[in-house]
Amino acid sequence: MKTIGIIGGGQLGKMMVQAAKTLGFTVVVLDPFPNSPAGQVADREITGSLADPVKLRELVTQCDFTTYDIEHIETSELIRLADEGHIIRPDPRVLAMTQDKLTQKQRLQDFGLAVPAFVKLESREAQEFRAFGLPLVQKTRKGGYDGKGVLLMRSEADFAKALPGDSMLERCVDIDLELAVMTVRGADGEVRSYPTVEMTFDSRCNALDTVIVPARISPELDAAAQKLARQCIDALGGVGIFGVEMFLDKQGRLSVNEVAPRPHNSGHYTIEACVTSQFEQHIRAVAGLPLGDCSQIRATVSMNLLGEPGFSGVPVVRGLEESLALPGVHFHLYGKPETRPLRKMGHVTVTAAKLDDALRIADQVKAVLKIEA
Ligand SMILES: Nc1ncnc2c1ncn2[C@@H]1O[C@H](COP(=O)(O)OP(=O)(O)OP(=O)(O)O)[C@@H](O)[C@H]1O
Ligand SMILES: [Mg+2]
Repeated sequence: MKTIGIIGGGQLGKMMVQAAKTLGFTVVVLDPFPNSPAGQVADREITGSLADPVKLRELVTQCDFTTYDIEHIETSELIRLADEGHIIRPDPRVLAMTQDKLTQKQRLQDFGLAVPAFVKLESREAQEFRAFGLPLVQKTRKGGYDGKGVLLMRSEADFAKALPGDSMLERCVDIDLELAVMTVRGADGEVRSYPTVEMTFDSRCNALDTVIVPARISPELDAAAQKLARQCIDALGGVGIFGVEMFLDKQGRLSVNEVAPRPHNSGHYTIEACVTSQFEQHIRAVAGLPLGDCSQIRATVSMNLLGEPGFSGVPVVRGLEESLALPGVHFHLYGKPETRPLRKMGHVTVTAAKLDDALRIADQVKAVLKIEA
């Protein structure tokens, strides 16, 4: 049987491993820490930095296909390995361009796709922020996740909080709704996409909170979001699944926030609510297999389980029995050894025949299910 390598052993890697194992693959995971969430369920784990060319080579050369669960990886060695003929998907050149928010936005803009106005930040001096105009969003070009590396500046008082490192400035969008479309390209070039989802964010940390599927939007807007997602992955290229995050502004205009070249938090619901999960779909694409059916079977609401503020240490789950007693509740705990305030520790997906029922049950779960220590 063929072997799949996954660079990064977080929760996305874990769910990829589970899908790959079901399909019969042997899986090897590279992560900086032993016993990572993905390492716990993989056949083998290699412990090492995702920036270490020696470890990356060790992984790739023992696998038939390699992919990644995170975009913050050193790409030069991966590009060399791809040039030597190893199959790495999505292509590491696509990763190199996408992992930098500025070069990704430039690419999308070059393809004529709607993105919020942006500039490269040069000096981090007050004058530069002022010239761009407030309110604005400062984003670090590389390494951000879950809202870390994103700073909203409303007034001049915020200039002092400017994020360090290479960054860009973006026009602050007057957001009505945030949407996402998981889109996959197979090795044969076929493109398919999942339903448009509606996302809400946790105001405490800007991290994704709840995903509602299908999004409660008009068929016209849905069609526009689906089209835009496809155009994005045409612009970026590469084989595998991509999470396309979008804004709908108060004037009803769609724009692209960012594209993640991997399974995405907004697609976790596909495990229970779609014919083929985003993780299986990604593995199929990476391994050159035919793509699966993206259709949704049940209405669904999924929500992240973030570590409760005030608790750090070995995670303790509160309210699990009450939650699992409710119909259609699926609980996922990632196996992270320690909880920290607002760390993503797991998620819950609620499926139901009708969206209103899923929303009601999700509220009941939210009231009782907590990750403490
Ligand atoms: N230009 C913008 N205008 C208004 N709000 C924005 C803008 N850019 C980002 N945001 C808000 O910040 C959130 C996080 O931004 P972004 O997706 O760029 O960061 P991230 O840390 O890479 O995200 P992720 O949570 O996907 O890992 C967005 O989902 C949105 O709520
Ligand atoms: Mg994002």
